[in-house]
Amino acid sequence: MLESAFASTNPADRIIVALDCGREEAMELAEALRGKSKWVKVGMTLYYACGPSIVAAFKQRGFNVFLDLKLHDIPFQIEGAAYSAAMTGADMITMHTLGGAEMLKGAQRGVERAAQERGGEAAVTLGITVLTSMDQASLNQIGIDRAPAEQVKLLAGVAQDAGISGVVASPQEASMLRELLGPRAYIVTPGVRPAGADKGDQSRVATPAQAFENGASHIVIGRPITKAEDPAAAFDAIVSEL
Ligand code: C5P
Repeated sequence: MLESAFASTNPADRIIVALDCGREEAMELAEALRGKSKWVKVGMTLYYACGPSIVAAFKQRGFNVFLDLKLHDIPFQIEGAAYSAAMTGADMITMHTLGGAEMLKGAQRGVERAAQERGGEAAVTLGITVLTSMDQASLNQIGIDRAPAEQVKLLAGVAQDAGISGVVASPQEASMLRELLGPRAYIVTPGVRPAGADKGDQSRVATPAQAFENGASHIVIGRPITKAEDPAAAFDAIVSEL
């Protein structure tokens, strides 16, 4: 296991369940997972359908909320967006590192200002480096000649220098990033599949245990839990694998 400041925390509390569905199904899933899962992830689909009230609904039910809106705009706008996202009660938010250091610093200022007003800790700020849907050819197309892994490294360095909390990364990149960013950085990995589970549209996958061993602080799992006949039992089975 790579050294990480999160290693002493219960791994069950570091599983984030991605609720990529409509409001009704998301609330049913939250009911089933209440008291088991500590975190849910709200992505663009659910958020743009429901608005900030969806974050409040999960917070009222005792969940931490990862609000994955992948912000990208000028620093002034992102400072405001990060402030507004944190004011909804979101505990973790995402932004594209491609927006540059000043934009990332703006996001950090936004969540810190929200924390001062609301009390409590500032929301965790996570940078998106290279989307896992992009390969060498699609990077070349937009004028980036570096290999994807090199581009991830460069952008993770920009995120760290700007003072945000960490990055979202594939489990394959996690160990390289843990070494680069040190034990305190948040490294959140999607693309996680329990042993023997259907991969769906994810290609480069790792099991939950492998992702944590590679240095992930948190893992994101969606369909293996949300599409299971019994989501609570699927969650428990993943925890027992760890
Ligand atoms: O259902 P599944 O476990 O594949 O869900 C993974 C979640 O993580 C989805 O919400 C997806 O959008 C998100 N994600 C991803 N790969 C990335 C970034 C985010 O799968 N590179």
